[in-house]
Amino acid sequence: MVDKEILLEVKDLKVHFPIEKGLLIKKNIGSIRAVDGVSFSLRQGESLGLVGESGCGKSTTIMAISRLERITSGQVLFEGQDLSLMKEQELIRARQNFQIIFQDPYSSLDPRMRALDIVSEPLRIFAKKGIITLDDASIEKKALSLLDRCGLSSTFADRYPHEFSGGQRQRIGIARSLSLGPKLILADEPVSALDVSIQSQILNLLKDLQDEFNLTFLFIAHDLAVVEYFCSRVAVMYLGNIVETASSKTLYEHPLHPYTKALLSAVPIPDPIAGKNRKRTILKGDVPSPSQVRPGCPFADRCPQAMEICTKKRPPLVEISNQHEVACFLYHDQEVL
Ligand SMILES: Nc1ncnc2c1ncn2[C@@H]1O[C@H](COP(=O)(O)OP(=O)(O)OP(=O)(O)O)[C@@H](O)[C@H]1O
Ligand SMILES: [Mg+2]
Repeated sequence: MVDKEILLEVKDLKVHFPIEKGLLIKKNIGSIRAVDGVSFSLRQGESLGLVGESGCGKSTTIMAISRLERITSGQVLFEGQDLSLMKEQELIRARQNFQIIFQDPYSSLDPRMRALDIVSEPLRIFAKKGIITLDDASIEKKALSLLDRCGLSSTFADRYPHEFSGGQRQRIGIARSLSLGPKLILADEPVSALDVSIQSQILNLLKDLQDEFNLTFLFIAHDLAVVEYFCSRVAVMYLGNIVETASSKTLYEHPLHPYTKALLSAVPIPDPIAGKNRKRTILKGDVPSPSQVRPGCPFADRCPQAMEICTKKRPPLVEISNQHEVACFLYHDQEVL
């Protein structure tokens, strides 16, 4: 039976980019395993944070869910419907329900369009295709009210993106993402390009909108403090894999995976005494290339607690306690080994 509360379910999602050689005759010489078997589910109204170092596959996961990147294998079930199997027409309709907010408010808005047109464009396109029935006046009214709800009054409606600050542009991007009434927002580092003082304003706006429109969020962020504030649950990614998931509170108070511990130990603590007493885990080396195929745990090369089995077998993501899952042999019982 389909659990009605589950809005999005991602099952063993893989996105591999082929590496080709040769100018005229291209030969496939391997692949970059950007996303390599990611599974998670998102309940209605929840906000799941996706964290991990640069290049671990966070953006590719979001792009694949929205089918803006080709899925190599796996399933993406939105309200039980598999997006990965949908044909173009079906997919366009389904896209009403999920929208992306991009990181960079400077490059994600068309510089030749006015704020009002940017926000009303999705409505116009869907009205033209006959998917929604709204006349021009109603579209304009709706776009103006969304801009206003996102903190930009109608006096800003005729301005172009270059006339706005970074925070204001992100407000336009948020208003646009809400225009079709989505249920799910895929937010790819929505505040990391903004000044710290502006970040909290935008985060507060997103939180208010979440309550008001009953939105569900998949929220990528580099900054763990941002995720702790915004997300009820966190998934930690490493080299195309999810290595740990837990509620934000549990993850920050009792991280289990050695990679999560290293990530958290790198976060600065404002209290100098607490900071002094803290055990730091400094990771050796950089994230390895996602083009190398490893039989074992993706983190084994850099893990300070690696055991023999870690280089031989991939640890599955196993629930250790209530909704706390970890992919690490340190916590798996013998029968899993
Ligand atoms: N179109 C593409 N072709 C080939 N490789 C790609 C492509 N897009 C992404 N990659 C590679 O896939 C891996 C994951 O990239 P991705 O952008 O998803 O990482 P990320 O976690 O979002 O990183 P960041 O935190 O820097 O945004 C990287 O090694 C990247 O170089
Ligand atoms: Mg990214």
